Amino acid sequence: MSPTETEPYGAVRDGLVCVSGDRIAWVGPAPDAPAELVADPGAVIDLDGGWVTPGLVDAHTHLIFGGTRAREFEQRLGGATYEEIARAGGGILSTVAATRDADRGTLERSGAGRLARLVDHGVTTVEIKSGYGLDVESELRMLEIARALAETASVTVHTTLLGAHALPPEFGDDREGYLALVCDEMIPEAVGRGLADAVDAFCEGIAFSPTECERVLRAGGERGLALRLHADQLSDTGGAGLAARLGARSADHLEYASVEGIEAMAESGTAAVLLPGAYYFLGERRRPPVDVLRSVGVPMVVATDLNPGSSPVASPLMALNLACVLFGLTPEEALNGMTRSAAPVLALEDRGVIRAGLRADLACWSVGHPAELSYWIGANPCAAVVCAGRRLR
Ligand code: NIG
Ligand code: FE
Repeated sequence: MSPTETEPYGAVRDGLVCVSGDRIAWVGPAPDAPAELVADPGAVIDLDGGWVTPGLVDAHTHLIFGGTRAREFEQRLGGATYEEIARAGGGILSTVAATRDADRGTLERSGAGRLARLVDHGVTTVEIKSGYGLDVESELRMLEIARALAETASVTVHTTLLGAHALPPEFGDDREGYLALVCDEMIPEAVGRGLADAVDAFCEGIAFSPTECERVLRAGGERGLALRLHADQLSDTGGAGLAARLGARSADHLEYASVEGIEAMAESGTAAVLLPGAYYFLGERRRPPVDVLRSVGVPMVVATDLNPGSSPVASPLMALNLACVLFGLTPEEALNGMTRSAAPVLALEDRGVIRAGLRADLACWSVGHPAELSYWIGANPCAAVVCAGRRLR
């Protein structure tokens, strides 16, 4: 992909990308490259007809957690629903118990392993949420681990505090008490220690009401965090409209979002983060209103939602495939949703496209056409990954 807007995918054929330090120095047709920028042959990655895209941006993951939910998967295949399991105290709360029980090293190693899988598939920027700690210490520990993973993996990690993911068992039905903890302790601590870039909440019948989510997002916004919202995944609670009204960067999931909610998102510049892995793995039937998103011009982002309960998807290319097959995106829209449209959700304006002056985050692919990135299932055509000018694989 390149700055040209005329070709599908903004493609440049027989192109060359020159990197200097951590930046893209030049991009265009190879014969036009300034001689002084063309490096010694040893530093050239020759793709032999392959393609280069921006490094992929996975803008929604929960990749740090203890345990798995494979037993719950069996229960769901036996007929139990995600909501039933959650209401019976399983679901997110079972991962909370496993995450609290796990020692830091175990969480770091398993998180690093999952992040390495994403990087293997071309990811150079990832968002990681907390939300499986649900007490101040355990939430902050998740965010610390997320920050540490950025160093281990040499990629950018954007962190999101998701304290309002579920009501932890020790609060019984004291919702007020838990929300006060999130707003008055968790958020200030996370911000004070520089551990969070954004705040998120799960707006759903099995989680928090729109009023409760608004309180949490406002508390985060007042302290300078960017706003995200898990909205209208399993029912229409007005989450899309709430995210828009609060000026959130994104509303995520959106299967049940109303037309009015989507129109409000277009007005407020709130992006739609589509998570086809969760739709697929939970066997959902209702698709997000992609035609409406398209027609009103809401940017469509595609992410893995990598998590143990609803989307154990460690392949961003699988997410692209699902976005096309299940949601009806074109392969170009899907790729755009993990590059150009994804970076602004994380307020990272220096990446997501290949343009001189931007960060040299690049993924190189052994494919004959970029649609292949959404086409193959279970294959990984990633040939090389460059992050901030450094080759990672
Ligand atoms: O994005 N929807 C809420 N949160 C996650 C699922 C978390 C879980 O089931 O552990 C999601 O799908
Ligand atoms: Fe999620």
